[in-house]
Amino acid sequence: MPLVKMTELFAAHDDTSFAVGAFNVSNMEMAWGAIQAAEELQTPLILQIAEGRLRYSPLDLLGPVMLAAAKRCKVPVAVHLDHGGTLETIKLALSLGFTSVMFDGSKYPLEENIRRTKEVVELAHAQGAAVEAEIGRVGGAEGDYKSVDVLVTSVDEAKKFAEETGVDALAVAIGTAHGNYTVQPKLRIDRLKEIFDAIKTPLVLHGGTGLTEDDFKNCIANGIKKINIATASYDNSARKIREVCAANPNAKFFDFSDAIVCGTCENVKRHMKIFNPERQA
Ligand code: 13P
Repeated sequence: MPLVKMTELFAAHDDTSFAVGAFNVSNMEMAWGAIQAAEELQTPLILQIAEGRLRYSPLDLLGPVMLAAAKRCKVPVAVHLDHGGTLETIKLALSLGFTSVMFDGSKYPLEENIRRTKEVVELAHAQGAAVEAEIGRVGGAEGDYKSVDVLVTSVDEAKKFAEETGVDALAVAIGTAHGNYTVQPKLRIDRLKEIFDAIKTPLVLHGGTGLTEDDFKNCIANGIKKINIATASYDNSARKIREVCAANPNAKFFDFSDAIVCGTCENVKRHMKIFNPERQA
């Protein structure tokens, strides 16, 4: 199957029956586990890595692995840079052949976020890649960044941002945060619906780990087209490794490799079944 652009995987604006899962990976085993899940459930996915995690897996090393995994998968897969913060990393992802990049300018004032995002859109579109950006602020921290508070996206700002930047996907802040929740969030579905009614740009939900099945379904029914899951795959893989150690103190290196593949595959399948129940073979 071809490597595709994430925009090819999104439902049409008015089709609120499913969302595409975007799963963060940090090594070959995780990428392989995600691909196995996609094939088993015959469900397309987005493989992504966040700039804040590159300390553990440099993009010039892991990027080609992600692209190779996508190209050998029997269902369509997009390869995406998550939370790109620097032009240097975005340019590297594009030169490797990533089919989309996120520029996260949410820490900047609106006009500066627009200006910087437009620069990335120009750069990426010239190379045939798609761009996701963020308006408002998702809480918590993805990778090595400092944790921040949620700033719920304003409808007017989302509209202005989408019109002026021409981004292909827009991450909105509706109460979610990256990482595990200490208190279950109350999602602003009302705000999501208002944004969905105001703009046609596909909407993205970050901070998927720990949301309930009802939360996911509510978000999809109200316009979310892409859902990001990171921590749940890391946690499930770590849990599998601990199980291997507990069951066998003499466990070998490759037992741990298998645990990561299996831990990621299991978590990706669990979420795919919620995000896209119609699609499963
Ligand atoms: P979680 O780690 O909460 O699943 O968030 C993932 C995410 O939004 C990646 O950008």
